[in-house]
Amino acid sequence: MLLICPHCKQQYNIDEGKIPPSVKTVKCKNCGQQFPLQPAGGIAAPKTPPKQPVRRIGVCISKGGVGKTTTSVNLAAGLAFAGFKVLLVDTDTQGQDSFVLGVKPKGGLTELITEELKPEEAIFKARERLWLLAGGKSLAGLKRLIDRKDFGGERTLAEALEPLENQYDYVIVDTSPGWDPLTVNVLFYVNEIITPVSLEIMTLQGLVEFLKSLSAIQKHRKEVALKYILPTFHDQRVKKCTNILEKIEQLYGHMLCKPIRHNVHLSESPSVGQTIFEFAPGSTGAEDYRELVRKVADNDKLFR
Ligand SMILES: Nc1ncnc2c1ncn2[C@@H]1O[C@H](COP(=O)(O)OP(=O)(O)OP(=O)(O)O)[C@@H](O)[C@H]1O
Ligand SMILES: [Mg+2]
Repeated sequence: MLLICPHCKQQYNIDEGKIPPSVKTVKCKNCGQQFPLQPAGGIAAPKTPPKQPVRRIGVCISKGGVGKTTTSVNLAAGLAFAGFKVLLVDTDTQGQDSFVLGVKPKGGLTELITEELKPEEAIFKARERLWLLAGGKSLAGLKRLIDRKDFGGERTLAEALEPLENQYDYVIVDTSPGWDPLTVNVLFYVNEIITPVSLEIMTLQGLVEFLKSLSAIQKHRKEVALKYILPTFHDQRVKKCTNILEKIEQLYGHMLCKPIRHNVHLSESPSVGQTIFEFAPGSTGAEDYRELVRKVADNDKLFR
């Protein structure tokens, strides 16, 4: 509790728990005046704003190699760097999020769900304010486990994450290419979706197909929605890129994010286990992912 002496305006930070209940007034050490503890004499500190509900964001599209992992890791790292607490969840058997971050957790999502590890053992602190629930080969067994459930299999991931998500400001979920029981699980957990659309290859068709599958899920779960379309591998010199971008703008303009440019540093940074902000903070890749962080956090002032 912050108290301000009404006479000399001296401020005191007081541990509320240490004030005996009988104490009603306090004496200012600076001017010697007594004043009521509260409410009239002392001004209670403005309370820290209540924590916003956690935002659950999935990075999804069935098409492979379009920048899902690059986006998941750098968005999560960027949000953490901006001061938010972030849990990155890798739901891909390739387990690349660990590789990109240069860490080797002893377990991850599978072990959390099967309860082989306690949450504090399964969740690996990868950076300051950034925690990772790793994916990897063991997720194949988890998919079988989900398939074997008679009912409620689609909520397996949600049931595992809901009890612990409130410690974080953001949960970012990286997904595998294709469509499998874990993809469905992700869509039964996240509320917002970022879909990377590579401008190098024709992914518009992939986007349309993904949206069809998503609408099938939305019949059962209204909360999940496509919120951001993120063009990736953008190269202004290539006419095809500009054409695809124009087409996306016509169709989904309101969801369109500023494109992530093709940047060699983005493809090099995983080999040394670094995020783009660590590997090449001055690169266009870092600049573009900082822009995405500002857009997602809805705060133009971040990193400025
Ligand atoms: N903007 C970019 N510029 C250059 N290279 C990039 C860019 N974004 C991603 N890459 C590289 O392209 C490759 C594919 O990216 P990434 O692994 O993020 O795609 P993905 O959609 O997760 O793939 P998968 O479907 O296999 O999981 C990686 O080698 C990555 O480093
Ligand atoms: Mg990936």
